[in-house]
Amino acid sequence: METKALYKISYGLYVVGSKLDGKLAGCVVDAFIQSTSSPVPTVILCSIQANQTNAAIKQTGEFTVSVLGRDVEPFVIGNFGFQSGRDADKWANVEHRLAGGLPVLDKAAAYFRCRVTDQKELSTHTAFFCEVTDAWLGEGEPLIYGDYQASMKAKTLEAFKAFKETGIVPGRQAAEKKTKWVCKICGYVYDGQTPFEQLPETWKCPVCGHPKSDFEML
Ligand SMILES: Cc1cc2nc3c(=O)[nH]c(=O)nc-3n(C[C@H](O)[C@H](O)[C@H](O)COP(=O)(O)O)c2cc1C
Repeated sequence: METKALYKISYGLYVVGSKLDGKLAGCVVDAFIQSTSSPVPTVILCSIQANQTNAAIKQTGEFTVSVLGRDVEPFVIGNFGFQSGRDADKWANVEHRLAGGLPVLDKAAAYFRCRVTDQKELSTHTAFFCEVTDAWLGEGEPLIYGDYQASMKAKTLEAFKAFKETGIVPGRQAAEKKTKWVCKICGYVYDGQTPFEQLPETWKCPVCGHPKSDFEML
């Protein structure tokens, strides 16, 4: 059997959000489909039994779905798909908010809130049959699973490997660096849009007027 043929089934890619013992949980899934549309929309999620997210959904009976957009940072997929919430606080690594107590990504193409109405254990997965209790639009077009397999998987592996090696969440180091330059003379902390390193040598502290060379990085 050519199992790669399965990659050509069209799914999207999603981050499921839930809670286990009051702590945020979640993972990446592709096995999420709409099953009926009336009288209320219903969906099916296939979740790996061994995963923490599976236990969280069984405990709360609810979860959110953030539909990943084509412009998603590959790190987001690796963060939620290549490690377990048992070993890492995955939500702490991404911009997110709570919607009715459950986490959703700040940036996604669309969002759903789902309530489990029935479930069936398959060999390795649980099929959760759910009602959509809320839905709202985000920004952009959805990422297609086949496009992820073809052109994003390698970048995702690379971004996650770099994160594991350095502990640095992509995009955060630059922001932190920018805010950590302090004037040794008056204590003013530089917080401008331009990275401190790129300010001209003639730039002066706006509080005490001392030159750039009197700043140090915290
Ligand atoms: C591209 C991709 C697709 C995935 N699809 C599913 C899926 O449909 N269902 C599922 O339960 N896990 C899926 N996973 C695996 C989980 O995201 C992964 O096992 C995760 O580490 C589980 O984390 P948890 O223990 O915190 O729940 C997928 C992972 C990737 C990278």
